[in-house]
Amino acid sequence: MKPLEIKNGIYSVGVVDWNLRDFHGYSTEKGTSFNAFLVKGEKTVLFDTVKADFAGQLIKNIKEIIDPINIDYIVVNHAEMDHSGALPVVIELIKPKKLICTKACKDALMAHFHRDDWPFEIIKEGDILDIGGKTIQFFGSAMIHWPESTVSYLREDKILISNDIFGQHWATSERFDDEVEPGELYYQATKYYANIFMPTSPAVRKFLDKLSKLNLQFDILAPDHGLIWRKNPSEIWKKYGSWAEGETKPKAVIIYDTMWGSTAKMAASVARGLSGGVVIKLCDLKNTHRSNVITEVLDAKAVILGSSLMNGGLLPRMADMLCYMKGLRPSHKIGAAFGSYGWSNTVVKLLNEAMEEMKFQIIGEGVSTQYVPDEGTLNQCLQLGEQVRESILNV
Ligand code: FEO
Repeated sequence: MKPLEIKNGIYSVGVVDWNLRDFHGYSTEKGTSFNAFLVKGEKTVLFDTVKADFAGQLIKNIKEIIDPINIDYIVVNHAEMDHSGALPVVIELIKPKKLICTKACKDALMAHFHRDDWPFEIIKEGDILDIGGKTIQFFGSAMIHWPESTVSYLREDKILISNDIFGQHWATSERFDDEVEPGELYYQATKYYANIFMPTSPAVRKFLDKLSKLNLQFDILAPDHGLIWRKNPSEIWKKYGSWAEGETKPKAVIIYDTMWGSTAKMAASVARGLSGGVVIKLCDLKNTHRSNVITEVLDAKAVILGSSLMNGGLLPRMADMLCYMKGLRPSHKIGAAFGSYGWSNTVVKLLNEAMEEMKFQIIGEGVSTQYVPDEGTLNQCLQLGEQVRESILNV
């Protein structure tokens, strides 16, 4: 994609990756973009770069605006390789006078690239860089989602270059939120939060509070992935506030895997019991990727887990899901368990242990059955669903 001037003297120069399908365990079925921004004042500054494979495309975009040798500074908001991978090539070409980042970011870049000859210029919280006609203020965003993360605020233009924050993994030719269908946009933003920021929600809360107290105005939120928010930036800001608080809806996600269909039958009965005033999502792990499941979990009040047993343990897809979910630390959930077994009746115990580790409030005794559920067992599953529904709705 060609570069685009998003405001006077401020250009989006990043690249679209139409083919990315996995981002270390996150299913990016619609690709992504690696956004980078070029800002021209009396000095010219490049904010972040792109994944190493796309260095050539980034440079081509920059050359449509300016001879790269005339870029004065590079700001690194985030050291992760999808934004820093092209740095060695870009620095070699541009030979910037300053590589501007925090001490923590310098340490991270050194641990990646081992280049103490780079012209590091260390900035701190609140520092202001005057580039002639534009001033840039830096704010820490530690643990959103790496310890060295920062954001850059273009004060005159009221643009926040926010690194990963407010991003989406979605490859599009459109660049702005108002150019795409909002349902898909918010789904992708929700998925991004659930899969990347959920475990650092306390840091997100602190970050939002910090910037809100400064009464900064934001005309544009420009993340390093996906669409740029210009129509109503406060809307995605509010969403982040809600997700960071762990706010939930009357919604239950049933996550299950089944060996011979018994656990699937039980899941259907649990869902039937939940019916009435509760949004129900039934996620068969054979068909639903872990990163789409966790997207549903983000705003759900209840998570109900079902598995068959195999070799004395949970089915591999459920073990994978639990490993992923534990890392993402969903909060404020109630939980329940069910499943089938062959000769060792431990399925509910194993699932409850996982939910206890995640501090879920467990509802009911759980339901298990040997091999295939009979009508009595399916009725117990129905009752388990009703019990969870009552807890969700506080009736
Ligand atoms: Fe898009 Fe944390 O990198």
